[in-house]
Amino acid sequence: MIVESKEAIKVEKTTLNKKFHLISYGCQMNFADSEVVASILESIGYSNTNTIENSDLILLNTCSIREKAEQTIRKKLSSIDHLKKKNRTLKIGVLGCMAERLKEKFLIEEKIVDLVVGPDAYRDLPNLLKEVNSGNDAVNVLLSKDETYGDINPQRFNTNGISAFVSITRGCDNMCTFCVVPFTRGRERSRDPKSIINEILDLKNKGYKEITLLGQNVDSYLWYGGGLKKDFKNASEIQKKTALNFSKLLDLVANEFPKMRIRFTTSNPQDFHDEVIFTMKKHKNICNHIHLPVQSGSDVILKAMNRQHSRDEYLELISKIKGILPDCGFSHDMITGFPNETARDHELTLSLMEEVKYDFGFMFKYSERPGTLASRKLDDNIDEETKQNRLSEIINLQQKHSLENLSKYVGNKTEVLIEKESKKSNDHWAGRNEQNIMVVFPKKNLHPGELVEIFIESNTATTLIGKAI
Ligand code: SAH
Ligand code: F3S
Repeated sequence: MIVESKEAIKVEKTTLNKKFHLISYGCQMNFADSEVVASILESIGYSNTNTIENSDLILLNTCSIREKAEQTIRKKLSSIDHLKKKNRTLKIGVLGCMAERLKEKFLIEEKIVDLVVGPDAYRDLPNLLKEVNSGNDAVNVLLSKDETYGDINPQRFNTNGISAFVSITRGCDNMCTFCVVPFTRGRERSRDPKSIINEILDLKNKGYKEITLLGQNVDSYLWYGGGLKKDFKNASEIQKKTALNFSKLLDLVANEFPKMRIRFTTSNPQDFHDEVIFTMKKHKNICNHIHLPVQSGSDVILKAMNRQHSRDEYLELISKIKGILPDCGFSHDMITGFPNETARDHELTLSLMEEVKYDFGFMFKYSERPGTLASRKLDDNIDEETKQNRLSEIINLQQKHSLENLSKYVGNKTEVLIEKESKKSNDHWAGRNEQNIMVVFPKKNLHPGELVEIFIESNTATTLIGKAI
């Protein structure tokens, strides 16, 4: 049965005593959404369990960004198939982008799935679960104009208690031709700044020291009273005059929480305003790091990707930021093997990386996604071997730049927020500096949550190693 009710229902706490196990894949947005889902489930009496075998409900919060991500999720579904044979009342649900992309088809393609819920329909979970628990299948994949889950206080499970994500926008209007996100997460809308401030206040009261403002495209944050970003043009004069953009939101948050570290991601070059750079300069508590995906160094490819800026404009933006914030760290996302990418286009990507010298980056082979403009109009014509070779080249170059950049810290000190125990040694703490670089150092009598000066003695391509001074 398909449940289409979108209404938020009043939920009475029940003594269901059921346990859910929630696995998240993909971007930070999905991880943040899982915390909203956990909060909704707990409000109807479900509790979280880390052991999949003990659960009454297994939820996978899925990712569609590349084909490989979807294959990983399908493999996971096959690997948990046997649990249903053991426990006949066990229910399995898929949430997130793959749920949105495949809709009811999921129930047919993956027989073990009982529940399919898109990213804007989590409020309907109590209804949908009632349906599922009475033996029916349930689907809600309606996308929304204004859903931001602003009033739901995320349940922070799997947290280090120090650093948290706070979502500020949902969806994306940019329509990069390779990207499935506008289809799976819908049109762009911003969250009420009051609810953002309330969430950060709650985190602060719970002892958190760092927040990352989160959106597919934070620079196009625009609060004018609610609704889709594209409808701003129809807003009233007063709404237009009092609208809050990203740099103003950043300023507001930095002023309100001077003792907290503030980060944001993802920035998009085409929507980036200079005001953001000045706001970063004005506030010491805003970390000097910008994740600024470029995807390619070639104008021909940027155009085919519908990225609304040229290579030169991107490089100008980087040098403007470096001029104002000399110690700003940069990271990137890059795609190799986009349709019709020539050896020359690839060389241009490498030379752009040489010019910027990023601290780190996320690099991917182009993966054709059904329904995107690229899949409809362009032939996925770069063979696998060429894609792989180009990917290896950019990864190697990034590795070289990371090593060079990080080695510049050796012999100097850098400020670090202690987050957790180092993965490699229980005698060491790990935390990040402003530039988002991981730093490890002996624990001594230090504690998570403290901001400490670390003298750097050595480095790898991903980590700085030092000691507290
Ligand atoms: N909102 C972000 C990106 C979100 S997706 C932005 O402004 O760029 C994260 C990254 O996945 C993208 O930056 C891109 O590098 C990569 N990606 C997206 N679609 C892809 C595809 N079809 N194939 C390969 N990589 C892709
Ligand atoms: Fe995707 Fe481009 Fe938006 S990469 S998330 S369509 S900015």
